Amino acid sequence: MTLEKENDSVSPSAENNKAKAWSGVFTEATDRRVECFTESISFDRRLYEQDIAGSIAHARMLADVGVLSAAEFAQIEDGLKQIGKEIASGDFKFQIELEDIHMHIESKLTARIGDAGRKLHTARSRNDQISTDLRLWVREAIDRIDGRLAMLQRAFVGRCDVDFDIIMPAYTHTQRAQPVLAPHYWLCYCEKFERDRERLADCRKRVNTLGLGAAALAGTSLPIDRRKTAESLGFERIAANSLDVSSDRDFVLEFAFCLVQIALHLSTWAEEWIWWSTSEFNFIRTPQAFCTGSSIMPQKVNPDVLELIRGKTGRVVGNLQSLIVLTKGLPLAYNRDLQEDKEPLFDSFDTVDASLELAAPLVAGAVLQREAIASRLDEGYLDATTLMEYLIQRGIPQRTAHGIVGRLVRAGMERGVPLAKLSLDVVQEIEPTLDASIFDILGAKNAVAAMQSYGSTAPDRVREQMDGWKSKLNARDER
Ligand code: ARG
Repeated sequence: MTLEKENDSVSPSAENNKAKAWSGVFTEATDRRVECFTESISFDRRLYEQDIAGSIAHARMLADVGVLSAAEFAQIEDGLKQIGKEIASGDFKFQIELEDIHMHIESKLTARIGDAGRKLHTARSRNDQISTDLRLWVREAIDRIDGRLAMLQRAFVGRCDVDFDIIMPAYTHTQRAQPVLAPHYWLCYCEKFERDRERLADCRKRVNTLGLGAAALAGTSLPIDRRKTAESLGFERIAANSLDVSSDRDFVLEFAFCLVQIALHLSTWAEEWIWWSTSEFNFIRTPQAFCTGSSIMPQKVNPDVLELIRGKTGRVVGNLQSLIVLTKGLPLAYNRDLQEDKEPLFDSFDTVDASLELAAPLVAGAVLQREAIASRLDEGYLDATTLMEYLIQRGIPQRTAHGIVGRLVRAGMERGVPLAKLSLDVVQEIEPTLDASIFDILGAKNAVAAMQSYGSTAPDRVREQMDGWKSKLNARDER
């Protein structure tokens, strides 16, 4: 038995400080335990493509301004691309003595091409380098999550026509409240995920800022041209203060929060569908391919995917908490603490990415249990509020109407019948001014049809929402 986590792809080696780029001032070799404690290669190698792209753009700029020769740039670019291929194919050897992805790539490059490689880190520090790598990574991550949210929205919109005529109870306090059309539920989630997409787009604007050129914290005395670097990396802005670059992780926290909000929305949906798939509710059947069984109870078909989507929200929230506490009170500018930003960031992304990947086919494949839903639709006095509004339209003050309908509901409860099954005698005993016309608006179907104001659940209004969503999603497809 072992307690240690396995990390067989990062190999310890007997190399000493001579391998380290910063060893000049040191007279002692680094303690082995320190190397293990301070390394980030076990998780930041995930940034290798961003690191290589950033380095190529940086070197190209250095060549443009005459700090590197064209021949040196060509060697650097070739060498970096080669290293990228090796890492991708799994042929690259990682070793903790080299700390992080930046050191690995640079030292391999230097081993290959010599002095040109030793010039790559000109006018740059790992502080602006890691900031740039992370920004490139987060930018891509945002685009991936946005694409997944679009798929999920499409899955919800795709259900609307099939489920259009299904009326469902909607709840407050988990008590039956008012009837809505099933697509009203689906488009409610589209709205939530749309806000998530807007938040991501807004976050992306700030992510899309070039840090490189800030060097350690004070900028550089070398004649660099940050506009060129920004252009080749597709950054829309250039960070205006070098001290800010090396200390800023706002963009990581912002993205981590965007992911929290998505996870929270997913958890609400998951929770709802978990309840809906109980035999007590029996509103929905999720595809068996997205359920798992019990090792002891042969009859069980459990909604484990939904439960894990709900459950994994905890770690996404926890990761944001870690990042907030991590950055609280950190002095300017770079501090090694900041290395701890990556694992929570990656974990939140991986978790939400995987949840969204499963959510879309789950939504598309589920089947509403029409009969079961319809058979209990006259339970819970779902039409009571619409009746109250009908009385208001006949000139009765809202509070008075509320009281009248409350007494009618009580009469129904005592007799074990819905409002529509009360006799006119009983109704008029409670409120003599009422007549048989109230029966025209009772029942879930009439109640839904009455909800005509903008954003409400009447079929016409829901159709408008559906049309709006279809054209919105299609317009984005064409872009
Ligand atoms: N691995 C480091 C990080 O993730 C890279 C920056 C290191 N900078 C430094 N001055 N030690 O933050």
